[in-house]
Amino acid sequence: MSVLVTGGAGYIGSHMVLELLDHGEDVVVLDRLSTGFDWAVPEAATLVVGDIADQTLVEELIRKHDVDAIIHFAGSIVVPESVSDPLGYYLNNTVKSHSLIESAVRCGVPHFIFSSTAAVYGSPARFPVGEDAELRPESPYGTSKMMTELMLRDSAAAHDFDYTALRYFNVSGADPQLRTGQSTKGATHLIKVACETVTGKRSHMEVFGTDYETPDGTCVRDYIHVSDLVNAHYLALRRMRSGGGSLVANCGYGNGYSVLEVINAVKDVSQTDFDVQISGRRPGDAVAIVAEAERCRRELSWKPKYDDLRQIVTHALNWEKKLAGRNRQ
Ligand code: UFG
Repeated sequence: MSVLVTGGAGYIGSHMVLELLDHGEDVVVLDRLSTGFDWAVPEAATLVVGDIADQTLVEELIRKHDVDAIIHFAGSIVVPESVSDPLGYYLNNTVKSHSLIESAVRCGVPHFIFSSTAAVYGSPARFPVGEDAELRPESPYGTSKMMTELMLRDSAAAHDFDYTALRYFNVSGADPQLRTGQSTKGATHLIKVACETVTGKRSHMEVFGTDYETPDGTCVRDYIHVSDLVNAHYLALRRMRSGGGSLVANCGYGNGYSVLEVINAVKDVSQTDFDVQISGRRPGDAVAIVAEAERCRRELSWKPKYDDLRQIVTHALNWEKKLAGRNRQ
């Protein structure tokens, strides 16, 4: 029996592979290496380079490796990019997920875990935002993920499989042992960008919008450590295997930090005062989004270990320094 991880050579996927291996699971990674790296996949896992929409390949893998669960990370994740390339996002995130779900149903894979997002809520009417809030995505990215959630909901009702959709808030940090981390080229995520500015990879960074209706005028987000996030997936897998059924749950801590608070935390942890420039709003950005995190804790008995912004920043920074050292060699 093994677990198929799509996008397992990417940032979150590679942490998931480690989490599964640490728990003694057999892991097959399917990744086309468009943004991921083969070196990010540990040797103990089987890496297959290919596309999730290649049904012949996917179904061969499912049968050959006796896959009982698919954890689906492969997809595009940059909110502003989805605004300028909506069809690319609907193709990668929705159409290709349809193909993968179809393969799962056809081969009788009983469990499916989907990497969803807080972007399905848009700018919620209240926060923290619970799973039953209305879904009002404000970007093609959010819509593309919402559509996949709906396909899973309806397919699970019609066929013999369970799914867990985990709605991620802002995933950051790196494996505390630095076995992997966020290595994406041209990354746009706040903590990653700030850490790249510390190591000198960037000369400065920008703050996108200081005129939002928030205490300091910058957007508020709920930053969650990647290792806690993948642990929630592992617990979700265990829950489904023991008959817990389908579940939709937020993955965040329930703490909101503004862009300026995050930048100050990075300056403080790194003891570096880097150049920060104020820019206009970025398309597709929600004003403030913070998780109501109870369902994940209750249903999965999830006990986060790194619920602390400075800890997240420390791990992200350590990884960034490791990457910078590697690039100098
Ligand atoms: N930001 C800056 N400067 C930067 C980068 C980001 O000011 O250089 C700001 C953004 O404008 C935003 C905030 O920092 O206000 C967070 O932006 P990120 O790019 O780090 O993350 P997003 O909130 O846009 O999106 C992320 C994931 C999504 C997920 C979402 C959930 O990419 O997958 O968090 O809140 F859905």
